[in-house]
Amino acid sequence: MGRMLFMGQEIKGKVAYITGASSGIGRATALTFAKEGIHVGLMARTETKLKEVAQQAEAFGVKVAVVAVDIANMEAVEQAVIELEKRLGPADILINNAGIGLKGSLLETDPADWKRTFEVNVFGTYHVTRAVLPHMVAKDRGDIINISSSNGLKATAGSTSYSASKFAIQGMTEALMQEVRRNNIRVFTMNPSLVATEMAFGDKLDEQDKEKYMQPEDLAEFMVAQLKLHQRIFIKQSLQWATNPF
Ligand SMILES: NC(=O)c1ccc[n+]([C@@H]2O[C@H](COP(=O)([O-])OP(=O)(O)OC[C@H]3O[C@@H](n4cnc5c(N)ncnc54)[C@H](OP(=O)(O)O)[C@@H]3O)[C@@H](O)[C@H]2O)c1
Repeated sequence: MGRMLFMGQEIKGKVAYITGASSGIGRATALTFAKEGIHVGLMARTETKLKEVAQQAEAFGVKVAVVAVDIANMEAVEQAVIELEKRLGPADILINNAGIGLKGSLLETDPADWKRTFEVNVFGTYHVTRAVLPHMVAKDRGDIINISSSNGLKATAGSTSYSASKFAIQGMTEALMQEVRRNNIRVFTMNPSLVATEMAFGDKLDEQDKEKYMQPEDLAEFMVAQLKLHQRIFIKQSLQWATNPF
């Protein structure tokens, strides 16, 4: 094969677990992966929404499994991952995408909500990773993509809990990456700026000039490109920006 035809790696037939797959970036990732021939295990709290995504993913001819789970609950996550393993086999790819975003200054924010942001974004990511990682270590192979945020690199006023949680994901991911490189496990952190999803625009999503902003599908496409890279290379940290959102 000529050098120009060199391909990184085939991702068709792999198994990916995706958290927060019921909407936004997670949903787009589930469908894009299914289109690429990846079998997908979908996690989020809302089963009805997950089932709708599953139906669309199945249309691409891949195996799909859904489990409704609150990732803040460690025991529930352990059970969910056991269930996905039974139905799809162990994960080759883990997308830690589920997260919540709370707006409000430090004093305005209800302490319970502030804490909940950490329980979902930080502990949730930890719980899922902790449940999935042993199989990757055993196989001596795997890909983990953690979705932090541009707020995880540069905080903004009115986002103390969200930014703090996303900075924490940054640190956790960087440390994990160093821990498991030797197991041939690639750990990527993505840091998107504004993406046109419910989280960013709430129920005003339809009123926005969406084309100006990054779409969830753009992020999914970026993930596919990262995963197709040759096993010897990975992008440890990346920032996704809209070209001209003005
Ligand atoms: N949109 C942006 O501008 C932007 C920018 C940078 C980073 N991000 C990050 O990208 C990720 C996805 O966000 P998005 O914009 O796609 O938001 P979204 O549309 O609100 O989706 C969030 C997903 O997470 C799930 N989720 C929330 N809490 C959960 C919990 N406790 N347990 C399990 N699943 C839970 C939600 O499903 P259920 O409600 O059914 O549980 C949903 O599927 C988040 O980590 C976010 O911080 C977003």
